[in-house]
Amino acid sequence: MPLERLLLNINGVERAVVFDPEKDTLAVTLRRMGLTGTKLGCKIGVCGSCSVILDGKLIRSCTKKLKNVPERSEVLTIEGIGTPRNLHPLQQAFITYGSVQCGFCSPGFIVSAYALLQENPAPSREEVRAWFQKNKNTCRCTGYKQIVDAVMAASKVMRGEATIDEITYIHESDIYGSSHPRPAALAKVCGVCDYGDDIKLKMPEGTAHLAVVLSEVPHAKIIDIDISEAEKMPGVYKVMLGKDVKGSNIMPNHTGHKRALGDDEPYSSIIVDKVIRKCGEVVALVAADTEEHTRAAAKKVKQNLEILPAYMDCLDAVAPDALRIFDEIPNTHILQPQLKGEDTKEIMENSDFVVEGSFSSQHQPHLPIEPEVVQAYWDTEGNMTIQCKAQAVGFSRFLMSAGIGLTPDKIRIIVNPTGGSFGYSVFQGSYALVATAVQNLNMPCTLTMSYEEHQHYTGKRTGSHSNGRLACNKDGKITAAEWDIVLDHGPYALVLAHLLASCTAFAYHGYNIPNVKALGRAVSTNHAHGVSYRGFGSPQIYTCTEALMDMLADKAGIDPFEFRYINMAKPGETSVSSSPYREYPMIQIMDIARPIYLEYKASAEKARAEGILRGVGVAQGGFNVTIGSHDSAEVALELNADGTITHYNTWEDMGQGGDIGTLTHTVKALEPLGIKPEQVHLVLNDTARCPDTGIAAASRSHYMAGFATLDAARKLMDAMRKPDGSYRTHAEMVAEGIPVKYIGRHDLHNDGLREQDPNTGVGDRTPTNMYCVNLAEVEVDPLTGKTKVLRMVAVSDCGVIGNLLAVNGQAYGGLSHCIGFALSEDYLDVRKHNNIDVCGIPHIQDIPDDIKIIHVENPRPNGPQGSSGCSENFQASAHMAVINGIFNATGVRIYELPAKPEKVKAALEAKARGENLAPKKYFLGSDLYEEIENIKNNPV
Ligand code: FES
Repeated sequence: MPLERLLLNINGVERAVVFDPEKDTLAVTLRRMGLTGTKLGCKIGVCGSCSVILDGKLIRSCTKKLKNVPERSEVLTIEGIGTPRNLHPLQQAFITYGSVQCGFCSPGFIVSAYALLQENPAPSREEVRAWFQKNKNTCRCTGYKQIVDAVMAASKVMRGEATIDEITYIHESDIYGSSHPRPAALAKVCGVCDYGDDIKLKMPEGTAHLAVVLSEVPHAKIIDIDISEAEKMPGVYKVMLGKDVKGSNIMPNHTGHKRALGDDEPYSSIIVDKVIRKCGEVVALVAADTEEHTRAAAKKVKQNLEILPAYMDCLDAVAPDALRIFDEIPNTHILQPQLKGEDTKEIMENSDFVVEGSFSSQHQPHLPIEPEVVQAYWDTEGNMTIQCKAQAVGFSRFLMSAGIGLTPDKIRIIVNPTGGSFGYSVFQGSYALVATAVQNLNMPCTLTMSYEEHQHYTGKRTGSHSNGRLACNKDGKITAAEWDIVLDHGPYALVLAHLLASCTAFAYHGYNIPNVKALGRAVSTNHAHGVSYRGFGSPQIYTCTEALMDMLADKAGIDPFEFRYINMAKPGETSVSSSPYREYPMIQIMDIARPIYLEYKASAEKARAEGILRGVGVAQGGFNVTIGSHDSAEVALELNADGTITHYNTWEDMGQGGDIGTLTHTVKALEPLGIKPEQVHLVLNDTARCPDTGIAAASRSHYMAGFATLDAARKLMDAMRKPDGSYRTHAEMVAEGIPVKYIGRHDLHNDGLREQDPNTGVGDRTPTNMYCVNLAEVEVDPLTGKTKVLRMVAVSDCGVIGNLLAVNGQAYGGLSHCIGFALSEDYLDVRKHNNIDVCGIPHIQDIPDDIKIIHVENPRPNGPQGSSGCSENFQASAHMAVINGIFNATGVRIYELPAKPEKVKAALEAKARGENLAPKKYFLGSDLYEEIENIKNNPV
């Protein structure tokens, strides 16, 4: 391989680089030099994480071939902009304004903003947004608003209109409810936080590089995987197949549902050896000495397959003559009824107004900017140590153990700094894969998937189809509701019982619906496998129920906001699960939202009077907190010799802020000791060092870890307390033989919670809930059908806020995912949807700068410091504010998400022809009434 040598001025210093002119890009070369602040996400120039400044011009370095860079060019990377001890104002502002969540995009944004401010020292917010749009800087976590806030603040410092001190957070006396920045932000804004692929470059010599060979068809029998050519390729250590997996090769996917049908549960294989059931399953795993060699060898693996019929939509998989995806399991394998009150059929017939409709939602892709990366090795204690993006470290150890043939206590999981997840990384298939390679090779191994591989390998939000009916009387009071929803979870899915529970029990959350007959169905297909995603089941059901609310309001001639108001539950009234709500803040929330709604409405009406298709949409919703009666969490607090505190937990941080949550709870819980934030050390997310705090999902972490921290703090302070009420020092504790480290625990086992009844759906599953009303003002271009969200507001009750920056981060980010879900995001075409751009990720101009988050902080009597959770409250129903806004703007309803321009345009054209493109009622496998009767007659 002939190489070249080039002199470059990098960050103000002349350096020589040696490179392969045929393939090396500037980004790859910089990273090889240790400048890993330049991140690689998409590698095709659409995410902006690799932004650097080359000879004064902002470029995306992942597509810049080094051979095209002139000698002595000046390159400025994030490392040359500022350092942890000498922050640039942009870096400080990103920390202070909460512009960093996972932080993977942050170096690229900061470099990009630096280039902007060189060109335009006093940009307007709109100019900042236009710059990031033009330069493709993409963030999946923040919703962009806090990034623009930071740039505006930093530009003032750079112009001398403010000092850096003025944009630096100063600790307030009470950390709880403050805007204390997250501790991890400092390394992230300086580009010195090592994410998975950065760690790959810094692994010791003797580390094997892995590449996956993925199935390219959705359903097939494997006749043979021919690895003969691949094995002969340079540098190859081994090509592994299913037979090389040391355990059962099965990744269980416990449905955990009493009504699950069939003689087995859907499962996946670590390396598939018999039947491929979706595109993107691993059929072979190649290990070689370099990444280049392993990828070259992977291309030589041949798949000899017998192609089987594939069901890419659950409407096909539920057809009576459909073949089974798993021989032992019917395609429709779980039914969860939701029943309340009297029989709905007769009530509907006697109601003044009834509407019905059929709705679909897509397999929403999570689209983190960082693709899947895993390292694994044997540690010095003989543990299989896996560094990955785990979102449930304890749970994962157990679920993967039989598959790889190691007991959970021999598996150690460490969470790498993670470039976003939003739920997909609860699935541990990739950790098992890399562990398998370590077992085969007895070498450390590292795997970085390309973004395309990541897209096809990882799970997605389950798709859905639903039929629904809703009835009310003349006064607008709802009399009865029916729905029948199918969740298309691909061939396998994790925690389906929870998913169905969320989907059925969150229908009409916050309302009083006296009579309900409904069903949730889980169906296997050959599409993407189902996995957690923020909102977990609730966006699917709100796609049906929040549309029906609007449709019924329209039919009854009542304003959609007021129609919802009329039907809000009052104290004592119950949810569709027949349990009183834990709280009743809905009227309060709506009262706060009403003036904003009226302002949006007036603005939209004025625009429509001028011929502009502008509308306002409303959607109400919320989510639960915790995973229910079997939830538990542990943390540990230790008093150190110097009087500082170390907190140990596994609050997995995907960017949501496990670090600041931990710090906030610790300082607050230890308030009597006067512990300051800088006196707290965090040891997080290493199962060898931390007790199991549970999964980072179900908006549970702040709640469960908060209580566990209070318990640990109480135990520690009780141990430290002297008879006179003062506290022992570490030295005094040691001298008296008193332990200095305490485990705190919280569980919900005896909290009187009732899991959802598999025969009726009755239940009271979680200790508290969250509530939110969302408003969106949208404008539709009649020529293209493109919808633009002009502004948005979320009035939310998450209890007492722990950290304002983190909660607002979840809010802005969640709303941005909702806009994407409503308008653009999809993973329908498993061949085409292979990068963030084609999947419809919202860029900055797709998200309004005018987003208001209004917190109604009703303290939770049974929450730590009065808090509940927060995250999923902001990604439950807000997409329907956009869809309902389109109806208000145009008079056409979009029933099947996403509302892409061509779909809206077709609906507008149909309306002009006097037609309606509403889908016909879906056949979901059986009649709702008959199925409910069958369930009543055959309880489990
Ligand atoms: Fe921007 Fe995560 S903070 S992608």
